[in-house]
Amino acid sequence: MELVHIRPDAGADDPHLSRAAERLRAGGLVAFPTETFYGLGAHALDEAAVARIYAAKGRPAHNPVIVHVADAQAARSVVAEWTPHAELLARCFWPGPLTLVLPKGACVPASVVAGLEKVGVRVPAHPLALALLRAARVPVAAPSANRSNEVSPTTAMHVVESLGSADVLVLDGGACSVGIESTVIDVSGPGPVLLRPGGVARDELERVLGVPVARASEVAGDTPRAAPGMLGKHYATRASLVLAPHGDAGALRARLSKASAAQPPAALVFEASARELGEAARILVMPLDPRLYARRLYAALRELDARAPALIVVESPPPGVEWDALRDRLSRAAASADDSAR
Ligand code: TXA
Ligand code: MG
Repeated sequence: MELVHIRPDAGADDPHLSRAAERLRAGGLVAFPTETFYGLGAHALDEAAVARIYAAKGRPAHNPVIVHVADAQAARSVVAEWTPHAELLARCFWPGPLTLVLPKGACVPASVVAGLEKVGVRVPAHPLALALLRAARVPVAAPSANRSNEVSPTTAMHVVESLGSADVLVLDGGACSVGIESTVIDVSGPGPVLLRPGGVARDELERVLGVPVARASEVAGDTPRAAPGMLGKHYATRASLVLAPHGDAGALRARLSKASAAQPPAALVFEASARELGEAARILVMPLDPRLYARRLYAALRELDARAPALIVVESPPPGVEWDALRDRLSRAAASADDSAR
């Protein structure tokens, strides 16, 4: 592992950037910031390089990896078919936190897509990621740069903590701004299907497409019920994590009281509840704004988890579609905690 600091607006003439691009072309691993998370990148068309991602993360072979490219034209080169829906969404949301799932091009190795017929592709909205992709001149497969099932990294230090022993060049370009994964949408057929809620909300997609976007769970037949990798244990903290209803300090207090006195609990709550809880737990206060909340969530979970609390109680977000992706991640984090307790 080697960590280098690099200006987020570094260009192709930056020696760190050109070295990272060369490393990618040669089949090595490079961790780099995107607007959502740090990605662990490898040459997407090089089977051996992609295998290094799976090995470094301890990632199960059935979980496909997103291919990152510099622009829509490069995206077309890794898919077999570019649909009208893909065109509309790419024009509107790229660069940005949106992954388009389309029939896979013949050049993409089976390991990138975990043996599926479709590939996920996106153009990240981060100047350093874009500069790296342009300099590398190859598509870059990149899952989040953490060990499989751990909380995704929003800073280079998180990457070092999580993947410390792996042979990776880490480009430290500062903290990520979105803090929730890209939305994954299958636009291969006539009816678009939302496989993973994320940085672009479903109603924004529907507004642009002018047709309803089905949730994966609503679709019968051969379409997977959710994106692979979304079904099992995921986004886990080490401490068990439980959700409490929104705006109910009594319920929060009841959950916190279940923890032992020796090992104090921790809580992630909104400001109104924090005032009511007082000294009942180690508390982190979260903003009542979904974008700001997303930006802070994973770093906050890491911070609480590092104190080895008896448990982490999280106040659920308020109702509203703008909180959908966050509700999804929090309920997965809670379910993962259940899994690991078993
Ligand atoms: O925001 C992001 O997308 C971040 C940054 C680094 O770009 N990456 C990310 O990668 O979240 P990862 O590996 O944590 O998530 C990949 C997920 C898979 O688990 C699956 O849910 C979906 O994206 N996915 C990828 N390729 C797919 C495919 N061919 N078909 C269906 N879903 C796919
Ligand atoms: Mg991930």
